[in-house]
Amino acid sequence: MAGMSSTEAGSFPSVQGSRRSSAVLITGAGGEVGHGLIRALHDRGRRDIVAIDLRDLDPDIRAMCMQTVVGDICDAMLLGRLLAMFELREIYHLAALLSTRAEFTPETAHDVNVGGTLGLLRLAAEQARSHGQPVKFVFPSSIAAHGLPDLATKTAAGTIRWDQHLTPTTMYGCNKLACEHLGRYYMHHYRQLAKDRVPDLVDFRCLRYPGLISADTVPSGGTSDYGPEMIHAAARGEHYACFVREDTRIPFLTMPDAIDATLQLADIDRRKLSTPIYNLTAFSPTAGEFAALVREHFPAADITFEPDLQRQAIVDSWPVDVDDAPARRDFGFAPKHDLDSAFRDYLVPRIRARYAR
Ligand code: SER
Repeated sequence: MAGMSSTEAGSFPSVQGSRRSSAVLITGAGGEVGHGLIRALHDRGRRDIVAIDLRDLDPDIRAMCMQTVVGDICDAMLLGRLLAMFELREIYHLAALLSTRAEFTPETAHDVNVGGTLGLLRLAAEQARSHGQPVKFVFPSSIAAHGLPDLATKTAAGTIRWDQHLTPTTMYGCNKLACEHLGRYYMHHYRQLAKDRVPDLVDFRCLRYPGLISADTVPSGGTSDYGPEMIHAAARGEHYACFVREDTRIPFLTMPDAIDATLQLADIDRRKLSTPIYNLTAFSPTAGEFAALVREHFPAADITFEPDLQRQAIVDSWPVDVDDAPARRDFGFAPKHDLDSAFRDYLVPRIRARYAR
């Protein structure tokens, strides 16, 4: 392994000579997606992972990284030091404040979600200028970029395309939509009037995750969290008060399928991409259907429905389903899990094992 070290933002190791190490950067590395992505990249033999998070990473994840940095993506000095230390070829920018948390501190959410992304896009462009190759910038956006005004419109709209109903009602959704545009700008129009403009610096690739469900981690700060919270609570033998109505329906995807899709999008020849943004989904159960499956696998599950009207309104602004045909066609998105197999083959066995330990 190419060295394992964790460092505070203020104590970067010194540059060895004048050469910078080639690296793939992952922000928000300690989050749910970060964990899965680092494991997957490590399994593929990547030994050049540089991971940033606000908190120190779990030791097993840290051991898979060439370098880990505890720091804030909004810290311009930190990004400057990354530029000096590493020759970045790929960036997976995962760091964000999710939709529920963002509503309590909308301005901070904007600073992190948009300001942080802007800083990283700029870092990508500077990196590309310095080493002469485009930097691949993989950006997970979210179903939250969509916004339907009310439940009746949501129900009538049914399955929507990536370019429909883009009037989000959450700060998080507004931030994701803004970043989708920023990515497009950096890819096609960055410094378009400058005499010394260099084209094709940033190869921006964007997918929108639906609600994600992981057997290994419990989410925090999101509004689609009722799905994973319900099953983790049942496995722990705890009561769960679901904060949305039983008839609430949004799309979901298991974490392994989300990671596979992310890497498929990253790997594909750019010329195969026919849309700027890809929606993903695997299944769209109601919260009641989800609870019924949880009860089937955990007969003692104690689930009640106690809707929180404000959080309900957020979920009611997200589509019932999204059209993922472009992702299937362009980069071979093919989720392994439908709702039944997600429970049977992935969630239940792994969650049981996790809490049996
Ligand atoms: N899971 C996210 C949230 O609930 C949506 O992408 O905020």
